[in-house]
Amino acid sequence: MQIVKPAEQVDMARNKRLLNRYRYIEYETLRILAAWLPATARMEYKLALGRFLWEEAQHVQHLYQRLREVQTPAFRPPDDPALEELMAEAINAPDERSLLTGLFRVIKPALTKAYRWHSRQTFANPDAPTLYALKHILLDEAEHVAWAEAEFAGQPECDWERYIAELLAQAGGVTGHEPRAEKPAPPAARAPFRTPITAARDDCFSILEQHWGDAEARGQADEAARRLDEFENYSQEMLAAETVALIIHLSPDMPWGFVYDSARHCYDETRHCLLGIEWLRQHGLDYTTVPQNTRIYAWRSQYDTATQYCLLTRGNEAHAFPHRRRSLARYEAAGDQLSAQYVSYDMADERQHVAFGSKWLPELMAQNNIDMPVEQFIEETVALWQREYVSGDLPLHAERQVLS
Ligand SMILES: [Fe+2]
Ligand SMILES: [Fe+2]
Repeated sequence: MQIVKPAEQVDMARNKRLLNRYRYIEYETLRILAAWLPATARMEYKLALGRFLWEEAQHVQHLYQRLREVQTPAFRPPDDPALEELMAEAINAPDERSLLTGLFRVIKPALTKAYRWHSRQTFANPDAPTLYALKHILLDEAEHVAWAEAEFAGQPECDWERYIAELLAQAGGVTGHEPRAEKPAPPAARAPFRTPITAARDDCFSILEQHWGDAEARGQADEAARRLDEFENYSQEMLAAETVALIIHLSPDMPWGFVYDSARHCYDETRHCLLGIEWLRQHGLDYTTVPQNTRIYAWRSQYDTATQYCLLTRGNEAHAFPHRRRSLARYEAAGDQLSAQYVSYDMADERQHVAFGSKWLPELMAQNNIDMPVEQFIEETVALWQREYVSGDLPLHAERQVLS
């Protein structure tokens, strides 16, 4: 009997082990990016984080779909304390640049190298679904690496980046196959991550400390002023992205489906913010002159995650449609196709956000030990929204929760 020795280095057992490591790294990266989105001051980075974290969610989804075909349960810890330490430490960066260089100049290049090696070493036909997943993940990851190369070109490796590289070496690299280095000492700059209860902004912005309401509420009669107001408001939608990002960060025990939907929700809000920025630019206006209403984030973040989610999806988002529909009709009547298109796409996203709210609120309430009928909770939270948000008060209560 002839016995053929395969040349492939990745057999099925190793394949599963590696897929678990990749899934873990991608998922934790998503969570770290969400945690840092409100804490990051630079608007260009915030906008990029929204896209990156949604793309990480696509990668986790690809890996999840493959993993559930080969193991039950599909999500498993990587069974490597050094790898868990790497991802637990990566969040404690001293600042946003260090965070991004640690993730995008150390971990991601190593990840892409592992994906490429894996793609060459697995059984091509029997493991074709893994190859398909890695091929598509690599499209994004190569872009992420290139983004960081360009963004931080000429910036030397900092202590934090070196530390992340040492932690990765302690884990034997992404695959765990490399010789394992000693446990590194953290650099002096290491800053234990604290949940951001305020939304960071660059110094180029002025901060508005009160709710300004929508144009109709303020009786904006002039059509041009009303339209400008609407798109200035879009340029503030980073605030919604920041709340969704905070909810992701504070909900480590919610099911994967929630994180997946919320990554999309968060990304959409960064796109709505960008839509406002682009509209203003297209009309010769500078978005940095629009005061940032970060009080809205601070106000929402004092509540538990179920309340925050309900305030956003059943307060702001569910109530925006009549106003948006009137806007759309006005823009169409005026032949303003650009504004009409932007509002149409926004409404398509927002319909989905309200649906996410209905889908996930019961489970988020359970996570927060809120024991009352869902409809009653929604009713009470919308009343709170009317009282504190629509009124423009945005009170910060003395008994503000201490979030860990
Ligand atoms: Fe939005
Ligand atoms: Fe939304």
